[in-house]
Amino acid sequence: MANVFAKKPIVIERGKGALVWDVNGKEYVDCTSSYGVALLGHSHPKIVEAVCEQASKLISCHAGFYNEKRTEFLQKLTNVTPKGLDKAFLSNSGAESVECAIKLARKSTSKPEIIAVMGAYHGKTMGALSATWDKKYRDPFQPLVPEIKHIPPDNLDKAREAITDRTAAFLIEPIRGEGGIRVPPDGYLQGLRALCNEKNILLIFDEVQTGFGRTGKLFACQHWGVIPDIMCLAKSLAGGLPLGVTVAREEIMSKFKVGDHSTTFSGSPLVCAAASAGVDVLIEENLADRAAKLGAHFKARLNDLQNKHKTVKEVRGMGLMLGTEVKFDVLNTVIKVAEKGVLILDAGRNVLRFLPPLVIEKDQIDTTITVLDSVLEEEEDARTSGASAN
Ligand SMILES: Cc1ncc(COP(=O)(O)O)c(C=O)c1O
Repeated sequence: MANVFAKKPIVIERGKGALVWDVNGKEYVDCTSSYGVALLGHSHPKIVEAVCEQASKLISCHAGFYNEKRTEFLQKLTNVTPKGLDKAFLSNSGAESVECAIKLARKSTSKPEIIAVMGAYHGKTMGALSATWDKKYRDPFQPLVPEIKHIPPDNLDKAREAITDRTAAFLIEPIRGEGGIRVPPDGYLQGLRALCNEKNILLIFDEVQTGFGRTGKLFACQHWGVIPDIMCLAKSLAGGLPLGVTVAREEIMSKFKVGDHSTTFSGSPLVCAAASAGVDVLIEENLADRAAKLGAHFKARLNDLQNKHKTVKEVRGMGLMLGTEVKFDVLNTVIKVAEKGVLILDAGRNVLRFLPPLVIEKDQIDTTITVLDSVLEEEEDARTSGASAN
């Protein structure tokens, strides 16, 4: 496989709920959910059942034909998406859901310009990459898609200044994930919505990481009562199978005509069966509320660590999308935490990121905190002895 992933020295073999085991039988609390994918927990029995049943019936069916599983999923999906967002395009990943949103914004407004924010992450295909901020991802691949520009986040004046008569849309993550778990100040997203209405510009929310209960509401935009015109979803939808979704208002999506956009795998029955079961699990198990409650516990425990350890600068996030900014490079910390039986993510050089399955148990959160506590202790000891050696 191409050498593009920063590999950790662990071979994961199986998973259940918020736990995974490596090939040697070592158990880990998984606070990564495979980058937010295993939202419902690993191998949720209802997903397994739905996949097995559908696999023996029909796995692929091009979207040029109708399929009842696809219809079933689309109905369930649009029952839970924010009001008005009830036309969908189905793809296979977060980046693809963003590609679709960019094309849709251009087609439906007949304008080319997309405004994104500094610190944004939208994926690595050429269109999504052009909206992603980090230079290390972008620079080797110049020239990127033209007329996608970046403005400072959380600043409505800058947003207003950036609009030109060529602007089609603002594209923004309601809470920036890769960018370090950054929650916008109250009023910012509402202000952006009002600005878009005033200037007749589309508002696109990238909820690829925040969507489906992760932040304690079904969609992060619901914390601020803001509904975008187009919303990008992926990661967690299909219980671990690849699925991207771009949802939009009917009058926007209807600007796409036959042939304007497609992918061969769009809405395969197998993936739709998993996603249909996934929506059921999300609602029946009340996972958004669970994320809010357990997220509050997790955050409080992270705050305790901040009070205890000088190297912890800040705790951020909502629900079970949490980050801890520290005063050192976290790359090795992630490995040390894994050695002690907990998998976590980084978000940039200084942020430890926690995206556990929403089915995580309280005691598994407490285990995570105990491990973090000891690793932070070691980190601080190493810094103190390094400083005294100097
Ligand atoms: C907010 C956001 N948008 C888009 C993407 C890209 O998704 P994918 O890796 O499935 O292409 C990600 C991935 O982390 C993301 O967090």
